[in-house]
Amino acid sequence: MRRPLIAGNWKMYKTSAEAVDFVRQLAPLVNGVNDRDIMIAPAFPALEAAAAALKSTAIALGAQDLFWEAEGAFTGQVAPRMLAACGCRYVIIGHSERRQYFGETDETVRRKLQAAVQVGLIPVMCVGETEKEREAGQTFPILDKQLQNGLKGLIADDLASLVIAYEPVWAIGTGKTATADQAQEAHRFIRSQVAQLLGFPLADATRILYGGSVKPENIAELMAMADIDGALVGGASLKPDSFSRIVKFS
Ligand code: PGA
Repeated sequence: MRRPLIAGNWKMYKTSAEAVDFVRQLAPLVNGVNDRDIMIAPAFPALEAAAAALKSTAIALGAQDLFWEAEGAFTGQVAPRMLAACGCRYVIIGHSERRQYFGETDETVRRKLQAAVQVGLIPVMCVGETEKEREAGQTFPILDKQLQNGLKGLIADDLASLVIAYEPVWAIGTGKTATADQAQEAHRFIRSQVAQLLGFPLADATRILYGGSVKPENIAELMAMADIDGALVGGASLKPDSFSRIVKFS
């Protein structure tokens, strides 16, 4: 059985003081929830303070990006081991906003994945089609390309902890959620492609999160689907109340 993972992607919101305040409010709300994993991904400057606030809670810390080199003259970049040293367990890789605004490609995703697993970070690899691609009937070919190129050269042994987030770009921050059936169809396809690329045992163990306008109102319906193993939540992860309600879906 795959253990559900509910992850909050805070994007460019919250200072370190705001992150600490959030954790203080969230922790009691999810206290005692122990049949699923919870993760929050603050911006880089808030990681250290968030890590300290998360101590003695069951909530894990994640980062929103990383660079693939171990160290060096790469102004503005953050190395994998710096994240691990901050207390991060997870790192989001290839979010559509990074692909759209910051030139991220399947090749940079591949390098980042490799770098993340080398230091023991759990990668949350994001894939998903745009509205135009969906309308053109290209959803599966796009997902296939993102997976094939992003996972190229990696082996199942390196990816035992792999998490994939299916985030249809047209559903992110728009209030348009994919229906549970649309999401399930994409998740099933992703799992079958991972099985082809890396073998069935890994595909069966890989958690596939849905992302895109997840809210307390739609989480249960999504989680009822066979291949949906959790959620990557943006907007609704910014408030302790809505995020805790998503975490506590039943
Ligand atoms: P959203 O964002 O929940 O605000 O749609 C999801 C994401 O971008 O990860």
